Amino acid sequence: MSTLQERIAGALATVRNPRTGTDVMAAEMVRDIGTTPAGRVRLTLLLGASDDATLVRDVRQAIEALDGVVDVRVDVRDPAQAAAMQPPTPARAASGGRTLPVMDSAPAAKAPPQVPAPVLYPNLGRIIAISSGKGGVGKSTVAVNLALTLARRGKRVGIMDADIYGPNLPLMLGVDAAPKVIDEKIIPLEAHGVKVISLGFLIEREQPAIWRGPIVMKIITQFLRDVAWGELDFFFVDMPPGTGDAQLSLVQATSVHGAVIVTTPQQVSVGDALRGVKMFERTSVPVLGIVENMSWFENPETGKPIAVFGSGGGARLAAECNLPLLGQVPLDPRIQEGGDTGRPIVVAEPTSKAARALESIADRVLERIAERYPA
Ligand SMILES: Nc1ncnc2c1ncn2[C@@H]1O[C@H](COP(=O)(O)OP(=O)(O)O)[C@@H](O)[C@H]1O
Ligand SMILES: [Mg+2]
Repeated sequence: MSTLQERIAGALATVRNPRTGTDVMAAEMVRDIGTTPAGRVRLTLLLGASDDATLVRDVRQAIEALDGVVDVRVDVRDPAQAAAMQPPTPARAASGGRTLPVMDSAPAAKAPPQVPAPVLYPNLGRIIAISSGKGGVGKSTVAVNLALTLARRGKRVGIMDADIYGPNLPLMLGVDAAPKVIDEKIIPLEAHGVKVISLGFLIEREQPAIWRGPIVMKIITQFLRDVAWGELDFFFVDMPPGTGDAQLSLVQATSVHGAVIVTTPQQVSVGDALRGVKMFERTSVPVLGIVENMSWFENPETGKPIAVFGSGGGARLAAECNLPLLGQVPLDPRIQEGGDTGRPIVVAEPTSKAARALESIADRVLERIAERYPA
């Protein structure tokens, strides 16, 4: 009788990469196959940008079909990134200012970094990433207003600012202080009934962005693990734009329950967003749907909508990816004012059309999560 490892290798040898015509074992796309006596399996799949994302599913299904396998976890890595992940030695923070444990140690630059096993944080509830292809489309706005809406519905909600290059949750939520550290746990701040942590609380504003990059995985892990979140129902992660380190780190650090992709109506923005959708699909994170922001501006004189940034982008992207359009949020100067004064629109102007749109998006997110993860 062959071992489970051998049977897995045999099963994977039947999964063909349509791009190269070879099977994933022969193509050396599979690394680090780990099994437990109870039948849990995890492995790393090196999937290049031009490889078909459905390979993740094919690999999973091939293993799931084996006798004795109870659980399969596939960690997807970009082969280019896997080779180049050797981080440069970062400059240590020079100032002695608001440093907390999270900032204390520079990462080891020598040993090739291991892909850490994703850790489950059941206390965080459903983990939802808010992402987009490019910056300035309203990720943070959507993340904050969804979080506040769910908190107003009685849910226990946390929000983490994973935008290490431009953390703006402190401004948007109107909280900015050095969090206390008790028993080596960082105590999150609280705003409008939502617990929040941001790198903005922990570092000096002037600290250069370049040295933050290499330690993004460490920061994200510490935000998940070393913050005293307590018991939450929903945990929102406000991502930086794009499909870079932070996205990859988050999906490697924990199991993300869903992603919401924000776009604006114009075509260029939609192209970027499409890459965002694909990235999450490649890493087996379900995309819950698309939010189109800045969809139109209501002419205050006539009440007629003006399509400032074109129209239809969100619907097109949703159709292209076979995903629901969760909603459209109009342009409203009060969103921007609220964002700058720490009073998000669902709190400041709850009867406005923009606030209503954001609340209805929050409902759709709840529905989508309930569909996917029946209680
Ligand atoms: N629907 C909207 N109407 C008016 N201003 C908006 C709207 N959505 C976002 N903004 C403003 O646009 C800017 C960028 O939004 P933000 O949420 O920070 O984007 P991102 O997180 O994607 O970079 C902010 O000043 C925000 O207040
Ligand atoms: Mg942002």
